[in-house]
Amino acid sequence: MSGEELFETAFPGTNGRSCATCHVREDHTVLTPAHVIALEATNPLDPLFNRIDADDPDAAVPTYEHLKKGLVRVILPLPENMDLIDFEGNVVTPPDRTIEVWRAVPTVEDTAITAPYQYDGRKATLQEQAQAAVTSHSEGGTVSDRDLDKIADFQEKQFTSQRAKKVAQKLAHGVPVEDIERPELKMKLTDQEERGLEVYNIACEPCHGGATTLQVTNRTIHDLAFVELKPDGNVLFDTSVTPPVPVLKPQPDNEFLNVGFANLTYLGQIFGDLFGPRFNASVPLPQYRYRFYTDGTRTVKQVDLPPVPQTASGSPFDLFPAIDENGAPIFGPNFLPQLFSTDPGRAAITGDPADYEAFDVPPLRGIANTAPYFHDNSAETLRDAVDLYSRFILPFFAPLNLPAVLPPENGGFFLESLSPEQKDDLMAFLAVL
Ligand code: HEC
Ligand code: HEC
Repeated sequence: MSGEELFETAFPGTNGRSCATCHVREDHTVLTPAHVIALEATNPLDPLFNRIDADDPDAAVPTYEHLKKGLVRVILPLPENMDLIDFEGNVVTPPDRTIEVWRAVPTVEDTAITAPYQYDGRKATLQEQAQAAVTSHSEGGTVSDRDLDKIADFQEKQFTSQRAKKVAQKLAHGVPVEDIERPELKMKLTDQEERGLEVYNIACEPCHGGATTLQVTNRTIHDLAFVELKPDGNVLFDTSVTPPVPVLKPQPDNEFLNVGFANLTYLGQIFGDLFGPRFNASVPLPQYRYRFYTDGTRTVKQVDLPPVPQTASGSPFDLFPAIDENGAPIFGPNFLPQLFSTDPGRAAITGDPADYEAFDVPPLRGIANTAPYFHDNSAETLRDAVDLYSRFILPFFAPLNLPAVLPPENGGFFLESLSPEQKDDLMAFLAVL
């Protein structure tokens, strides 16, 4: 069989799922909510509806509420130096030392230039990735190296555009990535798309830019994602200046960033749509707190994340932090009181608190085709994603020089850093990226 056929056909001895069951060919190899809902109506016996991904696999009648949001259950082993803890700090790690998270299905397009794979980068090669998918999603056995190579080869030929393909070809010919010019700079654009590119270059390129997405291009922005934590998990502030500023602890070689999307999902679980439409707010997600130890013997505690909220009112659900005796706010790495986390992100792979809720910075080529967005499908549309950036992300990266000073759009609640016109222009550019 060709790589394409192997991608589309279930291996013998599996639960009947092929790669294409979730990476749907007609939908740019993602799993859209619309596809799941339509398939349940027409063919509820499709292998996609295997109980392993049902909301409650042991329920008398399984529901697929998460799957209908495009989310798939992923089981991850906890690193040796981590435990799950409850609100009081008691260790509650299950005997098998695994956690479950609900993840969106990313496209396999452009995977020739986007290693490592998964939202948390836990797979280095497409072969490793494919074998893991057969084992976990299709309950199958060992696949031959030959077939894994063929599947990898097929995926490496799926591109979002000729531009992405050209980058891959240059890399394959040994051109160093820093010598490859962003092909987007040579696109033929309309006036509006051109204006959108300007917005992109200011607001998005610092993290998502570059010919491949292996490197965040603006290192000042990058470093702001890493803050020094006190032993209690709260951010250390430099109180010698007024107002106090967080002490940074850059990780120069770490390309996985926590820019706050998992925290916004937590807020959605507690406050529904208060912070704008949250596509996954209606489905319950795990509520974790994690203890990090200095090593795998789990004897010396490093830090608990998220830290127990210390708030102005004393309620753990208050969004306003308490202020310490030096005038610095008391909150954890998301800069807000946070009671629990729905997904530890990269930290579940490295056991490093700096990777708490950090995710791979994905490529934005072809982005208009792959809604919903983020690791947990928390934004239903690209416009929703742009709104979140305008209100809650861009203003907090000061060097971008995009403070939230513009009036809220549509009479909304939060000030904006991008105007409606800038958003429309950006949307026009993203549609052709
Ligand atoms: C049950 C649905 C399902 C099936 C079946 C499935 N995948 Fe996936 N795939 C996912 C999910 C969910 C993720 C993201 C997981 C994560 O990041 O934790 C993913 C991630 C990937 C990625 C990573 C893409 C990136 O840019 O990081 C690749 C490549 C991939 N799958 C290929 C395959 C192949 C090849 C097969 C068949 C052998 C397959 N998948 C079968 C759901 C599925
Ligand atoms: C400070 C770094 C940073 C900046 C600036 C940034 N992003 Fe992101 N972006 C990320 C990270 C990290 C993720 C992964 C988050 C996740 O999956 O939870 C992400 C994910 C996304 C996604 C989801 C992709 C998918 O396939 O689901 C979209 C869409 C997106 N960004 C658009 C934008 C746009 C548009 C801009 C400019 C307005 C922008 N980003 C600016 C870091 C950044």
